[in-house]
Amino acid sequence: MEAFVRGLPKAELHVHIEGTLEPEMMFQMAQRNGVALSFESVEEVRAAYEFTDLQSFLDIYYEGARVLTTEQDFFDLTHAYLRKAAEDNVRRAEIFFDPQTHTERGIPFETAVTGIHRALEAGRAELGISSGLIMCFLRHLSVESAHRTLEQALPFRHLLLAVGLDSSEVGNPPEAFEAVFARARREGLLVVAHAGEEGPPAYIWKALDVLHARRIDHGVRAEEDPNLLLRLAEERIPLTMCPFSNIKLRVFPSLADHNLKRLLDRGLVVTINSDDPAYFGGYVGDNYLAVSEALGLSRENLGTLAGNSFEASFLRVEERRRFLAELDRYLAG
Ligand code: HPA
Ligand code: ZN
Repeated sequence: MEAFVRGLPKAELHVHIEGTLEPEMMFQMAQRNGVALSFESVEEVRAAYEFTDLQSFLDIYYEGARVLTTEQDFFDLTHAYLRKAAEDNVRRAEIFFDPQTHTERGIPFETAVTGIHRALEAGRAELGISSGLIMCFLRHLSVESAHRTLEQALPFRHLLLAVGLDSSEVGNPPEAFEAVFARARREGLLVVAHAGEEGPPAYIWKALDVLHARRIDHGVRAEEDPNLLLRLAEERIPLTMCPFSNIKLRVFPSLADHNLKRLLDRGLVVTINSDDPAYFGGYVGDNYLAVSEALGLSRENLGTLAGNSFEASFLRVEERRRFLAELDRYLAG
């Protein structure tokens, strides 16, 4: 079973590159960049990864990201993620980064985007992983800051696939960012948004109707609204679910309580992703495996989830067809 799940060709669509920073790399970078950490050891860092909700995680996540300083740091971080992803036969990765986490500390937009992009190119050449980069706006910061960030991004427009919305959800609804997302769309960027992780179903409706999101990151609270479920199923709007994240941040008490299978059974385009694997205890293959065990997924379910991941991706038609054919051959054994 483990070999089957790891070998399943898949796309990962919800992973924050800053959330792939393993404590060992955090210490290396802190040392080489002269950044003081509030932790003494790798063990102490791991012991601090006990979260009670999204905010308790974000506080530590932004603290950890302070070590990322040079283009080489962003390259190394992304390259390490891609090597892990290759072990789970990730064929396509659509990766988030949070430019404001870096520009607010005086790290130029260019440093982050160039380092990440170079690693994605290397991953394509060395590992055959197809990829795209999604720039997220931090919703706890102002709309003006989001506009400034979009302006900084425009010279690098050709390196970006889409824009997203992340950080503290409750109290920061999507509609506040209507104008900046409209501007991003005029620039030809696609749209995704975190919604319905901790926030109510209304945030999912607004992400769809006001921001024009093409898929919803998390979206687990859609289950509370029957009309929303009908719409998500009818329009085949994907949900990029992150089971380990939801347990660590106490959205569900345990994996056995997760609604992933219920929503899959209702015909929603559900996908499995890792979110912030260095913080939540596993990469995408680990998420597939644990969910499969906790919810008793069949091989057919797992094939559907992998197929959904390619359907939900922003791949061009030709490449999507190629990966789906690869998946079909894999499932046919
Ligand atoms: N939710 C919101 N913001 C985030 C997350 C998340 O799960 N991970 C990193 N930033
Ligand atoms: Zn996320």
